[in-house]
Amino acid sequence: MPRQTFILNGKTVTVDVADDVRLLWVLRDRLGVTGPKYGCGINVCKACTSHINGKAFNPCAVPVGKLKPDDEITTIEGLPKQVAKKKRGEHGLHPMQEAWLDRDVPQCGYCQPGQIMAAVALAAKVRREGREITEADLDTIRNICRCGTYTRIREAIVDGAERM
Ligand code: FES
Ligand code: FES
Repeated sequence: MPRQTFILNGKTVTVDVADDVRLLWVLRDRLGVTGPKYGCGINVCKACTSHINGKAFNPCAVPVGKLKPDDEITTIEGLPKQVAKKKRGEHGLHPMQEAWLDRDVPQCGYCQPGQIMAAVALAAKVRREGREITEADLDTIRNICRCGTYTRIREAIVDGAERM
């Protein structure tokens, strides 16, 4: 069985699994990291959104064999450690998660880890470009919320981006 090595939430992990198994199942079923949710499995719903090397991606669409040993995968579990301790909020979380809590965004919660990971990647991209988030930027987030919490999500993204 091939051995797959990559960095997960700051630690190098190695797992024996076939090259064509998609990363979402390796994370959830082999490594017990269940923050990335299984919604569609075909790169549509975005419930599994995580980061690879700081950019948003969907692990349900990536065969684990495509990862390199120095690829850094971050899931919602590893998000707080992406910022310095002093930038974390009163719950010890990433500023985007704190904005989410303050605005009471989730309803059932299923889509929310993916929403937050997409939001952080967007806020970081906009910051690199030296500008503020626009309505058009918010429209680029395609994560589906079956509970329809979109208004609160959009408000929290702007709030969280300002705190980052
Ligand atoms: S489960 Fe990955 S995009 Fe739907
Ligand atoms: S909060 Fe229920 S799916 Fe988004």
